[in-house]
Amino acid sequence: MARLQVNIDHVATVRQARGGVEPDPVHAAVLAELGGASGITIHLREDRRHIQDRDLELLRRTVATRLNLEMAATDEMVAIACRVRPEQVTLVPEKRQELTTEGGLDVAGNLEQVRRAARRLREDGRIVSLFIDPDARQVTAACAAGATAVELHTGRYAQARQAELAARELEDLRRAAEAARAAALVVHAGHGLNYQNTAAVAALPGLEDLNIGHSVVARAVLVGLERAVREMVEIIAAASRP
Ligand code: PXP
Repeated sequence: MARLQVNIDHVATVRQARGGVEPDPVHAAVLAELGGASGITIHLREDRRHIQDRDLELLRRTVATRLNLEMAATDEMVAIACRVRPEQVTLVPEKRQELTTEGGLDVAGNLEQVRRAARRLREDGRIVSLFIDPDARQVTAACAAGATAVELHTGRYAQARQAELAARELEDLRRAAEAARAAALVVHAGHGLNYQNTAAVAALPGLEDLNIGHSVVARAVLVGLERAVREMVEIIAAASRP
């Protein structure tokens, strides 16, 4: 059964809207864990638009499950990850102007940079995952870069408005997951998953973690975070039952 890792970036987004101290992502992580999350994911962006260095330090000390740090493959970020030591690092592409991570990391086109970052992180004991589009070329490159895992970008699937298109995108995800597993990579998925479209992804064979943020935090505004997480955990569990 796939596990839910809750991305709490948008709790920090609400805090940063007023530049104050609430809501605190540390409190959100505790509630997400009480709701059944198997891990907590945060993205420390170069521009620090939501998660701050202080959040990373405190979450490192308080998260009782697993901390997954999303970050760009830069020297600054690799040094931070080696100092703070989250269980897992997910390397993602980062552009200043984007609202959210738009596409997967072009590992094939930046093999040396990604390989260097992955090597430093793995030597330091981090699990290294690469956020890639569901594409065989990127899976092969992830393997060549020395990653432990890949996170398949589910954004195209999530945005498909017609059932036929969504089915095609899901098939791409299934094939990429199969190729990754055949290459001995651990397979995760995420981006744009919500209470309507997650079940089909959770039912794909061999997925380990689903990273879900915006939809859970958005629902939490209305029903509370612990309940929002519990409801998503139940969707994933139901999708995995035979
Ligand atoms: N996985 C990665 C690599 C991401 O960058 C994000 C967005 O921060 C997510 C998953 C979660 O996406 P969403 O907020 O749309 O659930």
